[in-house]
Amino acid sequence: MSFDFTSIIDRRGKDAFAVDWIGRIPGIAPELPKEGFDCIPMWVADMNFPVAPAIVETLTERIRHPLFGYFELSDTYFESIIRWQERSCQVKDLKAEHICMDNGVMGGLVSALKVFCSPGDPVLLHAPVYRGFKDTLKFCGYQCIYSWLVQDENHIWRMDFADMEQKIVENGIHAAVLCSPHNPCGRVWEREELAQAMEVFRKHNVFVVSDEIWSDLIFEGHRHIPVQSISEDARSRTVALYAPTKTFNLAGITGSYRIIYNSWIRDRIEKEAEMTLYNNKNVLSMHALIGAYSPKSIPWVRELCSVLEANMRYACAYIRKHFPGVFLTETDGTYMVFIDCNEWCRDHGKTLDEVLKAGWQVGVGWQDGRLFEADFHIRMNLALPFSKVQEAFERLRAYVFC
Ligand SMILES: Cc1ncc(COP(=O)(O)O)c(C=O)c1O
Repeated sequence: MSFDFTSIIDRRGKDAFAVDWIGRIPGIAPELPKEGFDCIPMWVADMNFPVAPAIVETLTERIRHPLFGYFELSDTYFESIIRWQERSCQVKDLKAEHICMDNGVMGGLVSALKVFCSPGDPVLLHAPVYRGFKDTLKFCGYQCIYSWLVQDENHIWRMDFADMEQKIVENGIHAAVLCSPHNPCGRVWEREELAQAMEVFRKHNVFVVSDEIWSDLIFEGHRHIPVQSISEDARSRTVALYAPTKTFNLAGITGSYRIIYNSWIRDRIEKEAEMTLYNNKNVLSMHALIGAYSPKSIPWVRELCSVLEANMRYACAYIRKHFPGVFLTETDGTYMVFIDCNEWCRDHGKTLDEVLKAGWQVGVGWQDGRLFEADFHIRMNLALPFSKVQEAFERLRAYVFC
């Protein structure tokens, strides 16, 4: 390996929500481990790896120039995104005018919904659902209407197109949020699946916000398909949201961007984003993106994906071998896995709360599936050095699923 994905870095006291807030958020990060156990943070979606060296180099160089006044996004910022999108998503015709900066994906989502919906309107989402969508929509006064993903005969999560259509018609829906790749289920949607979903949206005139923040974290044999590449219609009815923050572990620096080809929609959303007065540019965030999207970071992402895939395969094999009644299907990408504990809880007369608590007590900081609308699942973040993932599963075997 050329990059460091094995060092165990102590994040305590270093601005790390993942470790410093354990025991302080009931229902989310509810309890500190018992004496004798350290905490293995597998809940919030950030990584326990140092960032790509090109990011540190770019930020260091910028910080050496000690002035941080008002600024505009540079040509290099836009060129970096255009080059990255071409390499990573095979997008050929992206221009600077199609790209708008946001300081976060959830902000971009809200600005888009303000254009697509009236207050109180229903919005279609898939469940299990990324908690950020659910909370953001509720806080902003939209109704979440869920179409459940269903597991096929191979336990692969699939969209239920008939159900999506029925929900759209029954509720008079004109806006949908897609999560592509999907958090927490780890699906990288195939072109045919996206084409079918976009056909449903076209038929019923539903505008789409496609959150593609996970699009760089894709495993062997899978490919991220940008929703906007599905058809001319998809290109003009979709707002795509991207960010370097998941891929490069930059959530604490913030920064994301919207790609919108339809100029009418783009201008209206940009106006909404400006009107919040909170969507200010951050110069370090701009330079972090430039470092992240530099050609030097490509091998880092490639290596990261192979580390994440190996962790995921280990987790699946370990569960299959040692935890009968617990189910996890191999994921296509991201670093989240969503573990089905329904049968195990039933067979052992345990509640999900008891299982979750047993994990937290031995330092396995995992996350309640009910936050994602699933009653018997647990979400785990596998973006840790392999030795820590191994340790977590050994603790689960010794103290939880026993
Ligand atoms: C699907 C998805 N979108 C967005 C975010 C967060 O984006 P931001 O911090 O830019 O709002 C996350 C974080 O986990 C996520 O999983």
